[in-house]
Formats: sequence, structure tokens, C-alpha cells
Amino acid sequence: MDEHTLTITDNKTGQQIELPVRKATQGPDAVDIGHFFREMGYLTYDPGFLSTASCHSKLTYLDGKQGMLMYRGYPIEQLAEHSNFIEVAHLMMYGELPQQQQLDNFSDIIVHHSMLNEALKSFFRGFYHDAHPMAIMVGVVGSLSAFYHDSTDISNPRHREIAAHRLIAKMPSIAAASYKHSIGEPQVYPDNSLSYVGNLLHMMFSVPCEQFQADPVAEKALDLIFILHIDHEQNASTSTVRLAGSSGANPFACIASGIAALWGPAHGGANEAVLSMLEKIGDVKNIPGYLARAKDRDDPFRLMGFGHRVYKNYDPRARIIRKMCHEVLSKLGNDSDPLFELALRLEEIALNDEYFIERKLYPNVDFYSGLIYKALGIPTNMFTVMFSIARTVGWVAQWMEMISEKNQRIGRPRQLYIGPTKRDYVPIGNR
Ligand code: SDX
Repeated sequence: MDEHTLTITDNKTGQQIELPVRKATQGPDAVDIGHFFREMGYLTYDPGFLSTASCHSKLTYLDGKQGMLMYRGYPIEQLAEHSNFIEVAHLMMYGELPQQQQLDNFSDIIVHHSMLNEALKSFFRGFYHDAHPMAIMVGVVGSLSAFYHDSTDISNPRHREIAAHRLIAKMPSIAAASYKHSIGEPQVYPDNSLSYVGNLLHMMFSVPCEQFQADPVAEKALDLIFILHIDHEQNASTSTVRLAGSSGANPFACIASGIAALWGPAHGGANEAVLSMLEKIGDVKNIPGYLARAKDRDDPFRLMGFGHRVYKNYDPRARIIRKMCHEVLSKLGNDSDPLFELALRLEEIALNDEYFIERKLYPNVDFYSGLIYKALGIPTNMFTVMFSIARTVGWVAQWMEMISEKNQRIGRPRQLYIGPTKRDYVPIGNR
């Protein structure tokens, strides 16, 4: 079959270009415009990248219309039901679900990288107690390259793998230490007999003076939420990690850049913003007023946890978490969290409102996740930290995929310049 191409004609000059269409295994194909500027002299313009594929990837597939999400071809619903975080982390890094021996080895490697260099302890003390934990995460994760010179040669696949293991393993320890610092309690060392999530809960909630046993319901719920947050194709923070990595920056610096990008309320910071929004709304009778503000172009207020660049249907992760909310809240003994009832009513009213229907605005992953974190006793300012722990698996998998591309190049977008044309300097006395 002839190559599939798109012909573009410049109706000013009559010049034409045939652009090859690259085939996807699932979802939209892509028009390759790599030679467009060189042959036609025009840049393509797509701020916000609404129509732009920045790369090809085998990791994660989203279908915005159907509200579908797959990791390495496995539907998120099946992984949520049958798998666990460490097994999905293996799947994302190595491309296949592990056999038992592989899973045991991988789990053992991650466990044995969970301790932090003792010198890092003083870093946390350098922050005020009221420092936002995400500020601490950005700083401490970015500093890891100062400790691990033996795994920053990104041209060495073994170094890349060790750095990935270290990042996945140490994020819970750094997160827990950030939390402990904010509440004035001593840092707790990891316990290698616990699961990945069990260890996080142990390091966050145990104290030296008494035994701590994580509630199995809490452990299972957090493991499931982490699976849902692992990766999401080329979202803002993942694109940031890829762009940082394309310059050859070390993996620790790249993940720190991802954490910084995730923090924004339009992205991973939304889960914290949803809880603040629900607390501000306070009562069902106030919902109409807030919806009116969300619809008012002149009002910066947005309905946090609603809308998505890709999903124009219910976010499959939100569907799973929403279902979990009932189970977790009732099992943990706070059946009727008024904020959960309020969230359900807010969702119901918004989904029947013309503004939201017309714009295909549905609840996203952040709308319900904070309610579960809250039920697990995790403070609001730690919600995006939780997101960053899970997303580190996706970030390192995307970074490894990009770095191992044989013709990998630095990412360097162009611009449509609309500033002043050339003009001469005017001495201050003549201005
Ligand atoms: C995450 O990219 C990912 O995959 C991200 C993520 C991941 O796993 O990595 O899924 C995680 O970041 C989820 C999103 C969390 N953010 C929020 O919940 C914040 C609230 N949502 C919005 O800020 C917004 O919906 C975005 C940022 C999520 C998406 O923004 P887009 O795609 O740029 O959409 P847009 O701003 O162009 O909105 C289109 C229209 C606009 O109205 P009109 O100009 O057409 O009149 O919809 C309106 C917007 O004003 N709109 C909203 C709205 N979201 C969009 N109006 C009110 N409330 C909202 N939440």
C-alpha cells in the first residue's frame, strides 16, 4: 500500500508538501511535521499542545472519548482489581507482568534501596516546620544526585536502572520525612518486612514510643490509589521530566522537575485544592453560587477536580476511586464524611448543568482521591506528595524510554515571535 501522507498547500505560493502519517497501534495516527519548517519555512503553532504528539511511547494509552486508560496494554480496571503497586511498577519499567521470582527480586531491590543517606536528615531540619512538603520534596529529590555519583551516567543502562530503583524506593522515605518534619516528630526508618505502601504508612504514622500496625484497609486502599496515579502519557509533569532529561540532566534532577510541575493546582495540586474547595463550599445550599463562579469567565474560580485535557468522558480513575470511597469510609468507621456527601451532590448537580455537559467536563482523578487520603489520616498538604510518590514510577519509565531512544535529541520548541521589530538603542537623554 502507498505510504499514507497528508498534502499541505500554501495558497499564497502554491508550494505543496507531502507529510508522512505515522501509524499508531491504538488511537490517533500522527502527521510527521519534522521537515515542515525546513521545506515550507513555516513553524506550526500549538500552545498548550492540544494537537501535538511530543514523542512516541509504548507505556500508557488514554482514550479521551471512551474514558479508557491502559498501562502497557492492560486496562486500568484489571490492574486495579488484580495487581499491586510494585507489580505494576515492574510492568511499567520492564514492559511485562513479572513472574513470581522476578517480582520477588524486584520487590527485594526496591526494599533495599528505601533508606536515605544519613546526611540527608539534616536537610529536613533546614526547612521551617510550616514548609509545604512539596517544597521539601523538590529540594531533597533534586539533591539526591549529590549522593549517588555511581548512578548518574545516563549513557549506562545499568546506571539508569539503579537510579530508577533508587528513586522509586526513596520517594516514600523522603515523603514520610517531610511529613514528620512538619509535625515535629522524629524521622522513622523504613521496615524491610513491610510492603511498599505499608512501609510508607509506618514511616509516616509510627512513633518511637509505641508499636504501629497499618490498617490493612488503609494499606490496600493506598496501594490501589497509587496504581491509578502511576502514569498518564504526556501530561505536564511527565513532559517536564522528558524535556529536562533530553538535555542529559541526571535522573534525580529530572524527577525533581517533574515534582515541581506536578505541584500546580491545574495538575497534581488539584487534589489538595479539591478538599479546600469542598471545605469552602461547606454546604449543599452553597453549590449553585460556586457553580455560577466556575462558569463565569471573569472569575478565576474553577471547579477543582473537574475537567481534563484528554478525557471528555468520566476519568476511569475517578470512577474507581469514587466506588472505593464508600467502602473505605465505611470500613474505616467514618461512613458519612460530610465532604464526601457534598462531593457526590456537587458532581450530580455539575453533571446535569449545560455548561459542564457542553464542555464535556467530568470529575477527574483528583476529585475523590483527597477524600480517601483524608480518611486515611493523611493531611491535605501531603495529598500531592502522595501523587508524586506514585507518579515517580511513570516518570522514571518515561525517562528511561526517552533516554534509550537511539536518535534521542534535546527538546527545543520554537515560538511565534510577536514582539517589537528591529530598532536602535536610544541614549537615556533622548528618550
Ligand atoms: C491532572 O494531563 C493529565 O493527564 C493530568 C492528570 C495526570 O494524571 O497526569 O490527569 C492529573 O492534572 C488532572 C487535572 C487536575 N486539575 C484540575 O482538576 C483543575 C481544574 N481543571 C481545569 O483547570 C482544567 O479542566 C484542566 C487544566 C484540567 C484542563 O484544562 P484545558 O484542557 O486547557 O481546558 P480549558 O481550560 O481550555 O477548558 C475548556 C473550557 C473552558 O471554557 P470556555 O473557554 O470554553 O468557555 O472548559 C472550561 C474552561 O473555562 N473549564 C472549566 C473547568 N475546566 C475547564 N470551567 C470550570 N471549572 C473547571 N474545572
